[in-house]
Amino acid sequence: MKYAIIIGGFLSTGLVQALAGPSPGECLEYILGSKNVPVKWINDPAYGDLTEPFNLRLQYKPIAIVIPTTNQHVQDAVVAAGKCGVKVQAKSGGHSYASFSSGGQDGSMMIDLQSFQEVTVDQNTGIATVGAGVRIGNLAQGIWDQGKRALPHGTCPGVGIGGHATHGGYGHASRNWGLSMDTIVGAEVVLADGSLVYASANQNFELYWAIRGAAESFGIITSFKFQTRNAPESVTYFQFQWSGLFKSKTDFVKTFLHIQDFATNGTVVDNRISFGIYMDGTVVSLGGAFFGSVEEFEQRVKPEFLRGVPAPVNVNVGSYSWYDYLVLVSDKDTIKEPLTGYDEHDHFFAKSVTVPEKDGLKENTFNQLWDYLSKGSPAPYFIITNLYGGPGSSINYKTEHFAAYADRDSLWVLQNYGDTENPANIDFINGINDVIIKSQPETTFGAYLNYVDPSYDAATAHKVYYGDAIYGKLLKLKQKYDPRKIFWNPQAIGA
Ligand SMILES: Cc1cc2nc3c(=O)[nH]c(=O)nc-3n(C[C@H](O)[C@H](O)[C@H](O)COP(=O)(O)OP(=O)(O)OC[C@H]3O[C@@H](n4cnc5c(N)ncnc54)[C@H](O)[C@@H]3O)c2cc1C
Ligand SMILES: *[C@@H]1O[C@H](CO)[C@@H](O)[C@H](O)[C@H]1NC(C)=O
Repeated sequence: MKYAIIIGGFLSTGLVQALAGPSPGECLEYILGSKNVPVKWINDPAYGDLTEPFNLRLQYKPIAIVIPTTNQHVQDAVVAAGKCGVKVQAKSGGHSYASFSSGGQDGSMMIDLQSFQEVTVDQNTGIATVGAGVRIGNLAQGIWDQGKRALPHGTCPGVGIGGHATHGGYGHASRNWGLSMDTIVGAEVVLADGSLVYASANQNFELYWAIRGAAESFGIITSFKFQTRNAPESVTYFQFQWSGLFKSKTDFVKTFLHIQDFATNGTVVDNRISFGIYMDGTVVSLGGAFFGSVEEFEQRVKPEFLRGVPAPVNVNVGSYSWYDYLVLVSDKDTIKEPLTGYDEHDHFFAKSVTVPEKDGLKENTFNQLWDYLSKGSPAPYFIITNLYGGPGSSINYKTEHFAAYADRDSLWVLQNYGDTENPANIDFINGINDVIIKSQPETTFGAYLNYVDPSYDAATAHKVYYGDAIYGKLLKLKQKYDPRKIFWNPQAIGA
């Protein structure tokens, strides 16, 4: 390429840059500066803490961290990113398993919503206005303080509502009240063109549908409206723990098959009961909530639950106020989280499996799983199997017309989570998924969006999270709302 060499030799570097236009960083600096948008750059002393994700295994370097205090800042930042050719992701609680709120790559713009902390309950309608940077512990606290109101959501108070509610949001109340997502009645969204719109059942319905399942690909939600409800006077919390199930394959398989029979038995189970099963190769522990009295649980539910299975080494059943229940399952002293300087992390890899209600898990699958787990793991791991379906489940009453969320027919959702300071554990976790999936070739398993798995390529992610019908619809909407793919991560719609 003689021509290129001559030109290259001819021009000074400065002139080449001038001809090529400013770098993305210079471009952002210029535009954000002219609009007074608060931003931290890579050389800022605060940059390290601000970019540290929950999952330390996956750390990325955003080109800029915008810390807006107004909707206008968010709008200006999105417009700037579009002009400068930079991808954008919002950060709410930063708990993405794939660190997608840091962009999922180096060089994206992170919009950190830490200043969006409003929690206000309208006392007439019970609708809560919630800033998109609120952590779910502070949300639960805020609505409890304003008239003992409640919402369904996960147990870990540090999780952000921004990611949690837009990708599901499961807790013990979900079989009764739905996912967090199902209680979103509206949202303020900054779109790729910088406009601020309201999305609800009556306004911008397509967008309202799309953000409940794929918000990260359509805009930055700055504020949510949630329909809260009265907290129950009390809930019954129960926990059963077994210590011998990893010593006896027969007992392990028998116990899980019985729990599955129990979970699908409409004469004992209704929407008032929910539970998850934790196992880590040593113990198996089942914990859940019953929206009824301890007496009813003891007399009618527990005997059926434990009928014919090995006796648990520990059984706890107790009545708690809604608030005390939230603190109990948080595994902390308080559900309140600091507004800045949150500093909890892990180093991990996780995968999920959604199990369709019509198939459940088969005896052979439990056998294979026990064989696999009994060989041991190179580092600590756990599996949590949550009950989503079964008789009366509010999660599964909905269809894909309600929201861009495919998982409305699962009996179980499994999370396979491994410590990865020893990277050999990644193979072990992959192996858990493989064993389950290979044991039931007749079953179409999926994956849960809130346990986003960075090891999937984009096409696989779209298939397991959304399926073809929902994904096709999302892709059309993406072309309408964000044709230049400004809102992007490696698995985003259109990636
Ligand atoms: C310790 C722990 C416990 C958990 N427990 C549960 C549980 O009990 N139940 C359950 O269902 N899940 C649980 N999860 C999973 C959790 O729901 C997801 O990790 C969730 O997506 C995290 O939300 P976040 O706002 O903290 O994440 P972030 O990393 O801030 O965001 C996740 C994704 O959502 C996007 N996003 C965030 N805010 C917005 C916004 N305002 N507008 C547009 N896009 C946005 C981000 O860009 C990113 O792509 C848990 C996770 C952890 C780490
Ligand atoms: C369902 O539970 C009832 C007890 O409430 C029991 O009699 C019945 O056998 C169970 N059905 C199945 C299929 O296990």
